[in-house]
Amino acid sequence: MTALNRRTFAIISHPDAGKTTLTEKLLLTGGAIHLAGEVKARGAARRARSDWMKIEQQRGISVTSSVMTFERQGITFNLLDTPGHEDFSEDTYRTLTAVDSAIMVIDAAKGIEPQTRKLFEVCRLRSVPIITFVNKVDREGRDPFELLDEVADALALDVCPMSWPVGMGGQFEGIYDFARNTLMQPEGPSREFEGAFTQVAGLDDPVLAEKLSAQGLERLTEEAELAQGGYASFDLEAYRHGDLTPVFFGSALKQFGIEELINAIADHAPPPRSQPAEPESVDPTRKDVTGFIFKVQANMDPQHRDRIAFMRLVSGTFKRGMKLVPSGHGKPIAVHSPILFFAQDRELADEALPGDIIGIPNHGTLRVGDTLSEKNDVRFTGLPNFAPEILRRVQLKDPTKTKQLRKALDDLSEEGVIQVFYPEIGSQWVVGVVGQLQLEVLISRLEAEYKVEAVLEMAPFDTARWLSGPADALEAFKRISMNNLAKDRDGNPVFMARSAWDVGYQQEKNPELTFSATRER
Ligand code: G4P
Repeated sequence: MTALNRRTFAIISHPDAGKTTLTEKLLLTGGAIHLAGEVKARGAARRARSDWMKIEQQRGISVTSSVMTFERQGITFNLLDTPGHEDFSEDTYRTLTAVDSAIMVIDAAKGIEPQTRKLFEVCRLRSVPIITFVNKVDREGRDPFELLDEVADALALDVCPMSWPVGMGGQFEGIYDFARNTLMQPEGPSREFEGAFTQVAGLDDPVLAEKLSAQGLERLTEEAELAQGGYASFDLEAYRHGDLTPVFFGSALKQFGIEELINAIADHAPPPRSQPAEPESVDPTRKDVTGFIFKVQANMDPQHRDRIAFMRLVSGTFKRGMKLVPSGHGKPIAVHSPILFFAQDRELADEALPGDIIGIPNHGTLRVGDTLSEKNDVRFTGLPNFAPEILRRVQLKDPTKTKQLRKALDDLSEEGVIQVFYPEIGSQWVVGVVGQLQLEVLISRLEAEYKVEAVLEMAPFDTARWLSGPADALEAFKRISMNNLAKDRDGNPVFMARSAWDVGYQQEKNPELTFSATRER
């Protein structure tokens, strides 16, 4: 086994586009049937959004469904869950730092939606290659050309249609795969694809006339010609570089396009890539073990402080019991009871390769962004903090609990639940999140774990930007903007802006400063 047969990927989408359904179908097709039930359970539980304890309970499952592994034709697929729904948070963003590629699911009736775009931007930051899956073609949807143009325009990507729907909704007659020249059609009363495809010689093969209605055939031949002539051809380099997205049409619900997606990931998606690090990037062929923590999850029982840190293995062969040094504090830790995520024999697996994910139980020593390595001689970079989109002031109910509050905010920001900002002027600390649910989790955990009662108030700020630039320019800016300045948990200067417009305005006035929406640790 080598790292070359690993495909570590995530699915990005707007809520309801069909990520859960597609995940299940990928797992079923990939053979990890027992896991598919868990995904479903989680999907239902996820809807109980206001009760965070339920979410935590559900996390008992999601520790295992955070990483779903299946093997097929000699390839090991690691599918990392991005909680891109109500519980949209930095976790989601950071998970994308641990994958080598992504599938972007789009609802055929809706096209590119806001969350798709946001997640896409994160992928672009790291040139993560994307395969697009236009879902729900069994329902009425938008014109396929219009959808392709929207992906191309909105995301500034070349698009390459790999398959084509013969009609949609009531007129849906199947999907034609351009590469294999096969036609997949709905079967039986459920109108699902059950695996019996028709192999043809090409779009002019007379067999197609037997399989499709006259209208369907005319449509397919006309549209396919336009689609193949009007868009880019598949180019592996351009895809892997993040400049081109191959587009598959399908229906997760009715099993159309699943096999094609798995094959596309196996054939085209990159194996583990080298990862940016100091002093130099780390290649998966390097012998000794290195990895980084991209996610920390609290135990489902809030009385217990143990956590699971998720490490993406970058190089070497990890073995149970191995000693690794976390960059955070430099003392080696022995990883005796790692959680290794494998479809078969999860309990027994005791070896992991680059691209694999290892869950490491710990008591808060491991932080998101930490590097773990045998020799303690590298630091992975490029694990950004993201500018929060919701800022709130924290008001203590009992003012004598300031110390506990500070400890709690520092802890929770280490875990990545929130970000904390300490303003230069004024005593009220500000927390920032990228999703509303994080605020609910914050309040519940403050009470349950730190016995601190607090309320959140509107802050007069809308967003925050990390500041950098020449020292004298920074000083001059600080003098005039003191009311809007804060420090983050690590003491870095942050500009608290009233609006996105304000950021633009200040940037224009202070061209020598950088107002950054992300900060690397
Ligand atoms: P998400 O994880 O992206 O939020 O989406 P999810 O898979 O939960 O799908 C959202 C809804 O869309 C579900 O319906 C699901 O059954 C439906 N869906 C997903 N893929 C397809 C598809 O290819 N075709 C059609 N027609 N529907 C699809 P729901 O009624 O909201 O939920 P449920 O009660 O069916 O679970």
